[in-house]
Amino acid sequence: MQSPQSTESNLLPLVPAYDSILGLMPYQTGKPVEELTREYGVSDVVKLASNENPLGCSPHVTLAITEQLGELARYPDGNGYYLKQALADVNDVNVEQITLGNGSSDLLYILASSFAGSDDAIIYSQYAFIIYPMLAKMQGATGIEIPASRFGHDLKAMSQAVADNPNTKMVFIANPNNPTGTQLAHEELRAFVASVPRSVLVVLDEAYIEYSPESNNRALLDEFDNVIIVRTFSKAYGLAGLRVGYALSSVPVADLLNRIRQPFNVSRVALAAAAAALADQDFIEESRLNNQEQMRWLEKQFDALGLGFIKSHANFIMVEIEVEMEDITAASIHQALLEQGVIVRPLEGYGLPNWLRITIGVAEDNMRLIDTLRSILTDDL
Ligand SMILES: Cc1ncc(COP(=O)(O)O)c(C=O)c1O
Repeated sequence: MQSPQSTESNLLPLVPAYDSILGLMPYQTGKPVEELTREYGVSDVVKLASNENPLGCSPHVTLAITEQLGELARYPDGNGYYLKQALADVNDVNVEQITLGNGSSDLLYILASSFAGSDDAIIYSQYAFIIYPMLAKMQGATGIEIPASRFGHDLKAMSQAVADNPNTKMVFIANPNNPTGTQLAHEELRAFVASVPRSVLVVLDEAYIEYSPESNNRALLDEFDNVIIVRTFSKAYGLAGLRVGYALSSVPVADLLNRIRQPFNVSRVALAAAAAALADQDFIEESRLNNQEQMRWLEKQFDALGLGFIKSHANFIMVEIEVEMEDITAASIHQALLEQGVIVRPLEGYGLPNWLRITIGVAEDNMRLIDTLRSILTDDL
């Protein structure tokens, strides 16, 4: 096996567009269930690592997918007519304000390639979604990380950073934020957007909005044409495996994004599934309810175990592992949980080595997590 360094040097003299690309590390995904089964031989795996919906997806999706199976030889509708129509109705926007993506990550990449170049700066918060600094590196742009305030975005400091860096082209804000689960108040966010020049694109990443509908900042779109809202069908809608996301923006921004995106970036199956999922808001309500109930239950269990956590507005929770024995760390607990078939997310990559991010599961998954965690902590202490 080659080390990353040797792969890198073997690439030379094929020089990437920007030196910063050499500093990129591939995005670390949550460990797939199949991989854990292969590596540790555990069959009964609980995955609480990628903020997926533990209830699956709406039963209507199955029928919608089945209807597409006879049409797989045909390209999808490159404009996503029906899905865009449905999204326009639900979000009270014009169809021309919508851009579809192969997951919302696709849209984040399209946004960065459309707006940021090597002379530009991209601003984001410490402890925000790890893709944002990667996008800056990818575009050869200057990434500016603003220290977090109580694990969330410090919007005053971010506004000051925009003022101090006139080459700022984009600001990424995740609300609720991943991995910390923090939420921003409407007024604070509105004041931030009002404080930055209209030439700065403010990307509001609302991947977890269905779990926290009160965080919805759709209204900002009517007031500011430099705001763009990015959402996904991967989380509450339970379609992570299909890859569908969408962006709501002003018409000129959508027009630009539509020039950059691949012509058929959302598959025919994914388009049909997303439209069916969107129509089933009862399923979203059920998912939100499970999340709320189980979040409260888990908070109580963490309290009982003496573990700190950050109040979360999404479908995951960040837990602090601050055990006073040298051999117990978040990394060792993550590993011990893996060996017993429970996958959670370590956060060293986010600069949070003492924390684990745990996706809220169904009651059975969460009980298994807590029982396993308790036995690891009590065995070791
Ligand atoms: C804040 C945030 N934005 C975007 C995404 C990307 O999700 P997807 O590409 O599956 O839509 C994620 C996934 O974890 C996320 O947490």
